[in-house]
Amino acid sequence: MGLIYRPRRLRKGESIRRLVRETSLSADDFILPLFVTPGKGVKKPIKSMPGHYQMSADNMRKEAKEAKDLGISSVILFGIPEHKDEAGTSAYDPKGPVQTAIAEIKSRVPGLIVITDVCACEYTSHGHCGIIKNNDVDNDATLELLSREALSHAEAGADIVAPSDMMDGRVSAIRSTLDDNGFTGIPIMSYAAKYASAFYGPFRDAAESTPQFGDRRTYQMDPANSDEAVREVMLDITEGADIVMVKPALPYLDVIRRIKSEFNYPVAAYNVSGEFSMIKAAAEKGWLDGERAMMESLISIRRAGADMILTYFAKEAAKALQKQG
Ligand code: PBG
Repeated sequence: MGLIYRPRRLRKGESIRRLVRETSLSADDFILPLFVTPGKGVKKPIKSMPGHYQMSADNMRKEAKEAKDLGISSVILFGIPEHKDEAGTSAYDPKGPVQTAIAEIKSRVPGLIVITDVCACEYTSHGHCGIIKNNDVDNDATLELLSREALSHAEAGADIVAPSDMMDGRVSAIRSTLDDNGFTGIPIMSYAAKYASAFYGPFRDAAESTPQFGDRRTYQMDPANSDEAVREVMLDITEGADIVMVKPALPYLDVIRRIKSEFNYPVAAYNVSGEFSMIKAAAEKGWLDGERAMMESLISIRRAGADMILTYFAKEAAKALQKQG
């Protein structure tokens, strides 16, 4: 049998498979999401997300140190405030949980990149990502809130701000507020193509941010659209986004690939809470090998074109990579 090309030649053993492997995973590419509460000594498990907790800033510092020691480059912080109101005013409280945690982490865990999620849904009593007028989120009224929130994160020492609200024009509003206040060097990672997804379910428990009426379909994208993702990303880049994100990741690998190919910008992908919890739940039942499913998911996101991955698996995956050597 004179077969010229026998693909199995390059699959003979682990060493040769590693030699020809096209995509790699590294803890450098991981961004670990963390949920910060007010107070001290708080570490409350999030039921739907095994291994994740709502934590006060003091405990978060330890978590951040552990992540850094595992080689993880960055964390992204989500705040659960003491007080919520219609206008989400605690989003820019200089003593808020996120602002406090930034300072803690920056002073105690040097070198770890601290990204902050900029959004209103954790801070509003109605759980929507902005100011409500006539039963819907008012786009332009929300921009000021987001700009104040991003500025307060920068003032507290954040390295990167990441708006996740999906209002039109937020990147340019935030960029000019940061610039006017001397923060020209703080990058914006925009949640540029963020879909209205069922896979955010567990996160909304974790961040206590479920909308109290309606849903997010008037601002987040329709899962059926891909051309629109290109327009969204183009807009954010035009407005000054430095890193663009696609979210969720696994159901949108085609979108990740398209965005990477069209723009050649740094692309982040958010391997969201539902993608994490599904694997955890199935593994708990013994229906699949959780570690292998985790690594396969993460490599597929990188193969699709993501440069970095926001993932609740960050610590476990970093440990698995260390084991592989
Ligand atoms: C806030 C925000 C959400 C997520 C990140 N930022 C929730 C939402 O839009 O409802 C979801 C993250 C996840 O599911 O892991 N707007």
